Amino acid sequence: MQVTVLGSSGRTGIHVVRLLRRHGHTVYAGLRSTRHGEAVAGLGARPVPADLASDPASLVEAFTGSQAVINTAGAADPDPSAVNLVDRDGAIAAIHAAEQAGVQRYVQLSAQFADSPDQGDRLVRSILLAKQVSDSKLRRSSLIWTIVRPGNLTDDQGTGRVKVAGHLEPGTVARADVASVLVGALSEPRTENQAFDVLTGDVPVGAALASMG
Ligand SMILES: NC(=O)c1ccc[n+]([C@@H]2O[C@H](COP(=O)([O-])OP(=O)(O)OC[C@H]3O[C@@H](n4cnc5c(N)ncnc54)[C@H](OP(=O)(O)O)[C@@H]3O)[C@@H](O)[C@H]2O)c1
Repeated sequence: MQVTVLGSSGRTGIHVVRLLRRHGHTVYAGLRSTRHGEAVAGLGARPVPADLASDPASLVEAFTGSQAVINTAGAADPDPSAVNLVDRDGAIAAIHAAEQAGVQRYVQLSAQFADSPDQGDRLVRSILLAKQVSDSKLRRSSLIWTIVRPGNLTDDQGTGRVKVAGHLEPGTVARADVASVLVGALSEPRTENQAFDVLTGDVPVGAALASMG
């Protein structure tokens, strides 16, 4: 399968690129800056310009020919204006671009509590609200979607074991395991048109995803 990854240079995105390549997929690694091109090319992915805050036509170009998009991007700056630009408006632009480019499958990395965003401090609330709006846009799109809502992300080594459910208690999960869930969703029909929380747990990712729906 050809997959375009948004936010390929990110701490979760790079795990996604690596895993997709390991599974034999053709990967277009979406980058907002060319400075990470060599790192993704070294993993066997093809770097493509994909800035969520820039010209949407470049997103259509980055998606053309791909059957799936995985969006792992998130604003580098937690200020609400930057978050709205990337996590809300940029994510929505990417959904529209995927529809235009004829993409069938779309996997979005959201955040735990994005579906009940009235909590946390001002910055957390703005991130959750931005993700709530873009998640809701994805649900109403023509794409086959999956929305993955992880708890707090860590850089711990992945265990390959998670807990998934519609809603979970607050918790943490390794970025490497979130990447396994995002990639695993592409080949698990039970995750189609589903939104769920993910935390570290004791169920192998494949079995956890097969229990959805
Ligand atoms: N931190 C947490 O505990 C937590 C919890 C739940 C969910 N999340 C969400 O999980 C996602 C991944 O988090 P992370 O910590 O792995 O991310 P990260 O390391 O901060 O990486 C974010 C990625 O998004 C890219 N990006 C930023 N602005 C962009 C734009 N305008 N267009 C395209 N790409 C852009 C960055 O590119 P550059 O390298 O060029 O900056 C980078 O590749 C984010 O959406 C975050 O909100 C985070």
